[in-house]
Amino acid sequence: FILAAGGGGVKRRAAAGLWRYAVVRTGQDSIPCKDCNPVLTWRVAAVPAGLTDRKGDRGWRPLDSCLAGLVYCGGQPACSIKGEPDTMSARKTILTGDRPTGPLHLGHYIGSLINRVALQDQYRTFILIADVQALTDNFDRPEILRQNVREVMLDYLSVGLDPEKVTFVLQSMVPEIHELAIHYLNVVTLARALRNPTVKSEIQEKRDRPEGSSIFGQEFDFPLGFLIYPVHQAADITAFEADLVPVGEDQLPMIEQTREIVRRINSLYGEGILQEPEARVGTTGRLPGTDGKAKMSKSIGNCIYLKDPPQEVDRKVRSMYTDPKRIRADIPGTVEGNPVFIYHDAFNPNVEEVEDFKQRYREG
Ligand code: TRP
Repeated sequence: FILAAGGGGVKRRAAAGLWRYAVVRTGQDSIPCKDCNPVLTWRVAAVPAGLTDRKGDRGWRPLDSCLAGLVYCGGQPACSIKGEPDTMSARKTILTGDRPTGPLHLGHYIGSLINRVALQDQYRTFILIADVQALTDNFDRPEILRQNVREVMLDYLSVGLDPEKVTFVLQSMVPEIHELAIHYLNVVTLARALRNPTVKSEIQEKRDRPEGSSIFGQEFDFPLGFLIYPVHQAADITAFEADLVPVGEDQLPMIEQTREIVRRINSLYGEGILQEPEARVGTTGRLPGTDGKAKMSKSIGNCIYLKDPPQEVDRKVRSMYTDPKRIRADIPGTVEGNPVFIYHDAFNPNVEEVEDFKQRYREG
């Protein structure tokens, strides 16, 4: 159930049963079939007419008269593009996703996955595996991504994201996203791109890592693609007309940047053209790593992965960073900011038990 994009070729392959879901570009006047859930009306009519007027074998129209439909084929191998619009389209839309940089961990779970699972019944939900975005980091080792896309998909299924309710999108298979991104790049200044706090700290992290230093070494010595990934992300979000974006805390600057782009495009080309999304962060915010560092990070090796077997989770929990001053169990300890208790608050539903643990820990 990987989603693919394109025109007739994709439809034919979908019909042949190769893909269960397909994105098809519909003609200007066609209506998605009643078995499908039409979810995307391509709103890049905002872009000045004629700017991307491309013809040829893909049959693209000038964007100002282009209406593309992204259709979910409700479990059927293919769809026709004639029929009635469905009633589900009244639902609000979620678009969110992850870079497939490795298997997902508890930080992802608490920060965002939990919300996505809870909301999948109420929202028309798209979950995007951002493989193109992950390439900004791994462009010299694309084979890593192939494996990771699979890992991330398995993690999605394992936490209860239901393919009957959710449409999974592989970013690289929807070229329209990249097209949209290139237009958004014009409304973002270089200064603004450099100010994005998450991008800034990610660049710093890479610089601190010895194996990354060859690319992220000097001040401006990092790939341009890395700098603009938040703009690309704005295209992900707006292409699907998302109302809500459930993400981890570190992604809030991306949603903020998306909102700015939306406002700018709307004021330039017409109000209401793009939907302004809102972020939704999990209640715990950021989950610290098992070493007490502010966040779980694959490169530091302080993660508990969703796919870790129980013994592994056990081992990691036992070696967790706690209160460094409490070198013996009879010394009173600090609960605040102590990863073990942050984890208890996040995962242990037995509030009384947690309070009891905290009290005994404080007393020594
Ligand atoms: N940038 C996100 C991450 O680092 C992944 C992502 C790509 C995303 N496109 C998105 C998240 C759109 C939310 C919405 O994991």
